[in-house]
Amino acid sequence: MMTAHDFPSAHVADAAGMDMILVGDSLAMVALGMQDTSEVTVDDMLLHCKSVARATKAAFTIGDLPMGSYEISPEQALATAIRFVKEGRVQGIKLEGGKEMAPTIKKISEAGIPVLAHIGLTPQRQNALGGFRVQGKTSKGAMGVLEDAFAVQEAGCFATVVEAVPAEVASIITQKLSVPTIGIGAGNGCSGQVLVQVDMSGYFPPGRTIPKFVKQYGNVWAESLRAIESYRDEVKSRQYPAPEHTYPISQEELDAFTREAGKI
Ligand code: KIV
Repeated sequence: MMTAHDFPSAHVADAAGMDMILVGDSLAMVALGMQDTSEVTVDDMLLHCKSVARATKAAFTIGDLPMGSYEISPEQALATAIRFVKEGRVQGIKLEGGKEMAPTIKKISEAGIPVLAHIGLTPQRQNALGGFRVQGKTSKGAMGVLEDAFAVQEAGCFATVVEAVPAEVASIITQKLSVPTIGIGAGNGCSGQVLVQVDMSGYFPPGRTIPKFVKQYGNVWAESLRAIESYRDEVKSRQYPAPEHTYPISQEELDAFTREAGKI
């Protein structure tokens, strides 16, 4: 599984054979330049879901419900989820939270909308968690994550993201569940993995800190910089556009035009 936030990033993830594409609310930080994910709105997410959905041909596409759009009641959550399917054109939704979100997951999945749960570190609650902190590092904490996993499974999620949990804990949780776990910062004992595309492809300027669990597989930022600098240099030196980048006109028409233009 891979995130995508627009048409080209969805296109490339789909072409690379991702089983699932997530329009994550990481959109807020990595694509819209916001401070954290709490600022992004349903309308922001829907615009990006639509552009992703237009590109995905094979992958199952999931939209992330943003903070404030699903916590008030299961009814509020279902209304938002329906907008994601009808307007955003995604096939499923993701929401953050464990046992406390079980009635909400039940409501949405019973309405026929597949729900991907998200337990462990839930970034939308970073203020309550004291920042982006690893979860389940004590026996009690790990039991809490396991209880969340059972609760979201029982409520009807088709899979759950497990974020920032020690690998051994995530592995035991995966073995205990009958639905798949999708790990991010949770080791290779999960059923599948998800990464934020901008992070793993290196589409960010040098110096930005990325989480410890991210492996950078490319350097898209450096390649874009190289391409744009070459364009700048070739425009200034008049190498670009070359004859092959221009449209032809017949000699006869050109002569006529030159004569007419000369009269003005
Ligand atoms: O917002 C997001 O991209 C996510 C994934 C990292 C799981 O929630």
